[in-house]
Amino acid sequence: MPAPAKIIKNDSDFRGAIQHLQGLVSDDLTAVNGAIMDSMRSPVALIPEMASHLINAGGKRLRPMLTLAAAGSFSYTGKAHIDLAAAVELIHGATLLHDDVVDESILRRGAKTANIIWGNKESVLVGDFLFSRAFELMVRTGSITVLDILSRASAVIAEGEVLQLATQNNVSASYDMYLDVVKAKTAALFAAAAEAGAVVANASQDQQKAFYDYGLSLGIAYQLIDDVLDYSGAQGVLGKSVGDDFREGKMTLPIVFAIAAAKTGEEKSFWQRTIGNSEQKEDDLAQAIAYMKACNSLERTIEAARGFADDAIKALDKIPSGKLPQTLADIADYSVMRSA
Ligand code: IPE
Ligand code: IPE
Ligand code: MG
Ligand code: MG
Repeated sequence: MPAPAKIIKNDSDFRGAIQHLQGLVSDDLTAVNGAIMDSMRSPVALIPEMASHLINAGGKRLRPMLTLAAAGSFSYTGKAHIDLAAAVELIHGATLLHDDVVDESILRRGAKTANIIWGNKESVLVGDFLFSRAFELMVRTGSITVLDILSRASAVIAEGEVLQLATQNNVSASYDMYLDVVKAKTAALFAAAAEAGAVVANASQDQQKAFYDYGLSLGIAYQLIDDVLDYSGAQGVLGKSVGDDFREGKMTLPIVFAIAAAKTGEEKSFWQRTIGNSEQKEDDLAQAIAYMKACNSLERTIEAARGFADDAIKALDKIPSGKLPQTLADIADYSVMRSA
C-alpha cells in the first residue's frame, strides 16, 4: 500500500479520521456495542450500573475498530469479529477501571471515575467481571488462536502496569525502561486487537504480522501523545485530568527528557524533590511545564511519536490497498496531532 494519500477532505484531524473509520464499520460497531451491552448483564445490580457508567460515557472505540477494520480489510463475511471486537473493548474497559484505581484518577471520559463514585474495591471487582466477560466472548469465537493472542496481551498489560509502578518516582528511569512500560501497558492491546482481526479473517501469516506491527507502533505513538497531553491538554477536551502523571511521579518521556536536560543544581533538585521524593507544592506543575518548554521535551516526545506513527503506516505496506487500510494509515498519521 502506498504512503497515505489523504482521503479525508474536510475534517483533516484525528477525530475526523476516527469518525471516518466509525462510518466505514458502522453496522459492525452497532453490533459490537450490542454485544458489550449483553455482556454487562448481571443480577447483581451494581455491576451493570458501574459498567454502563464507563461504557456509556463514550470512548472512541478505537481498539475494537482496529479489530473490525483488520477483518474487513480481507473482506471477512463471518460474525466472529463482532464478539472479538467486543471482547477487546471489554478488556480495555477492565484495564481502565483498574488503572483509575492505581492512578487515583478522578475523571474519565468526561465523567467522574467509578473509583470516586463507588470506591476502589468495587472498581477492581467490576474490572475483573469485565475481563471475565471478555474471555467468554473470545471462547464464543471458537478460535483458540485469538484466545491465545488476547490472553497473552491481557497478561502483558498487567505486567506493564506493574512495571510502571516500579519505575514511578525513579528519576534515573531511562527511555528504554519507559518504552518497555508503554509497549506493555498500551501497545500490546492495540497490537493484539489488530492481529486478532486479521486472524479471524484467515489472513496470511505475513499479513497477521503486518497488523500486529501496525497496532504495536500505533499503540506506542498513541501513548506517547497521551503522555504529552497529560501536560499540555485541555481537561474539557481530554475528558481526563491534566497533571495526573506529574502528581503520581510517573516517569513518562516528557519527564525523562526534561530530567536528562537538567543542567543547574536548582533544576536537578527540583526533579529530585517533586518526582524522586514526591514532595510537591502548588506551583510545581507549572514550574515542571516551564522546564519542559525550555528543553522542548514535549516537542521531542511528539517527534518520537511521529517516528512510531510512520512505522505503523509502513507496516500496512503488506496489506492490499483499500478504504479500510487507508483509513488506518490516516488514524496513525493523525494520532500525533490528537487532542483527545
Ligand atoms: C485511554 O485510551 C488509555 C490510554 C492508553 C491512553 P483511549 O484514549 O483510547 O480512551 P477511550 O477509550 O477513547 O476513552
Ligand atoms: C493507560 O494508562 C494504559 C492502561 C489503561 C492499561 P494511563 O494511566 O497512562 O492512561 P490514562 O491517562 O489513565 O488514560
Ligand atoms: Mg491512568
Ligand atoms: Mg496508569
